[in-house]
Amino acid sequence: MLLQFDEIITPAFIYDEMAILQKLCDLQQIQQCNILYPLKPCEFADILRLMTPFTSGFSVSSLYEATLAKEMLKNDGVIHLTTPGLRPDEIGEISELCDFISFNSLSQWKMYQHKLSSPVKRGLRINPQLSFVEDDRYNPCRKHSKLGVPLRDLREELNNSTLLKNLSGLLLHTNCESSDFNDLLETVKLIDTCIPDVLKEINWLNLGGGYLFDASNNVEALIEAISLLKSKYELDVYFEPGKGIVGDAGYIVASVIDLFKSDNRTIAILDTTVNHMPEVFEYQYKPDVAEESDNGKYKYILAGSSCLAGDLFGEYRFDQPLEIGAQITFLNMGAYTLVKANMFNGINLPSIYAYTLAGKFRLKKSFGYPDFKARYGVEHNACK
Ligand SMILES: Cc1ncc(COP(=O)(O)O)c(C=O)c1O
Repeated sequence: MLLQFDEIITPAFIYDEMAILQKLCDLQQIQQCNILYPLKPCEFADILRLMTPFTSGFSVSSLYEATLAKEMLKNDGVIHLTTPGLRPDEIGEISELCDFISFNSLSQWKMYQHKLSSPVKRGLRINPQLSFVEDDRYNPCRKHSKLGVPLRDLREELNNSTLLKNLSGLLLHTNCESSDFNDLLETVKLIDTCIPDVLKEINWLNLGGGYLFDASNNVEALIEAISLLKSKYELDVYFEPGKGIVGDAGYIVASVIDLFKSDNRTIAILDTTVNHMPEVFEYQYKPDVAEESDNGKYKYILAGSSCLAGDLFGEYRFDQPLEIGAQITFLNMGAYTLVKANMFNGINLPSIYAYTLAGKFRLKKSFGYPDFKARYGVEHNACK
């Protein structure tokens, strides 16, 4: 996409339709693997509509996501759900909406599997306890993990009861932003060694997401993992990368609204904020900016416009001095940004634009005061 945004009003979230479709087409090249898109990284309806013809369906983590997935797919794809948060008051509706449910724990299985309507395929999320992620905040295989049934516990349950007789498949999701499919191959080899008897009995395996699917990925390792599961166990294999599909297809474009010195550094205040990309603050990382230049002569601390002292993006160099109105483009903002963005401080959300297949910017949605006040009971107080 050409980084020239004269036609848009900032702050803006822009998604590149071609970049999303390109990723999906690349993924479709992987033979014998069903691609699901997990809603959680970005659930903007027009993005979901764009993806629908190129996926086998969507994966979701809650009743609301399942409802949105159904609204988008109609009957044109399957819905997989896994979550640690199943609730007794939602299981009925979830069972009507979803085609596959992978229970997160054996106790969830015992509480709910008999309550599902009969066509729902019942699975379990397993936890192979093979860690690839150093930072425990993103590590599904961390010690005392809340995500999935450890293989040993699954074995014990199988030895001691017939509880799992309705089990039709398994889900695992063990990585985060990995560019190395050897991690996945190693995980598949581990389950092949530890639970071959279970794999023989089931019909499908969902490999989860957590892989970027970028140029550095060794796709042959993914293909080997899938081939092993197909040739030895004849499983239907699902793969659901989220950030890998939308991550680098999204941008946040902001404008400089103030410039001043602070302790010999120049601060550039932007019309965006870390509220629009909360992971920048949550994980304290410095996002990539398209206009920065490693050897640029002009240095600025790019700062958000909320009153939080730490609403900062970092210090960046530019070849030209910044002026009021200059645009700054944050890269790789397609995943986990809009879905986490908030209106803290009463700062409006970014408008959403598509960079269409025809090479045009199209405004898809903008927000305003009605969206801000909607959560605060201004119109009427429902609990009066
Ligand atoms: C079960 C499951 N599938 C897929 C994903 C998508 O992960 P990512 O966006 O890192 O590919 C997640 C993310 O948490 C997940 O929990």
